[in-house]
Amino acid sequence: MVVLQKKYEKLFEAALKARENSCSPYSGFKVGAAVLTESGRIYSGCNIESSSFGLTMCAERNALSAALCAGEKDISAVLVTADTPDPVSPCGACRQLIYDYAPDARIILTNLKRQVLEFKIEEMLKYPFGKFK
Ligand code: THU
Repeated sequence: MVVLQKKYEKLFEAALKARENSCSPYSGFKVGAAVLTESGRIYSGCNIESSSFGLTMCAERNALSAALCAGEKDISAVLVTADTPDPVSPCGACRQLIYDYAPDARIILTNLKRQVLEFKIEEMLKYPFGKFK
């Protein structure tokens, strides 16, 4: 485990800020995420829960969707943060969307203690489904 690199400081701060807006009345588990594009833009998201539980949206997918909806194509990093003992890890659904739309991104897992684990999506999603291969 390493500490947060300076180059990801702004991304981490964006995820922290988004996390404050987490709508998680059911789980009480607040998650923030932020996406960095090749051009240096940052898009953030938080988890949004629904009374119809299955509609819940994760922070990572909301951040990624914000970037995609703005027309971004080249995503260089996806950072996620939560108040966990070890860096929080994206769920399977988020891994799939990252694989689909940000295959070259660095995936940066963090927690509020600023501990960091960093992966490529291939390391997190083995033998993925994709592009009708
Ligand atoms: N959650 C995320 O936002 N990202 C993940 O990768 C895992 C789970 C959210 C969904 C739900 O609101 C809460 O965490 C508990 O599962």
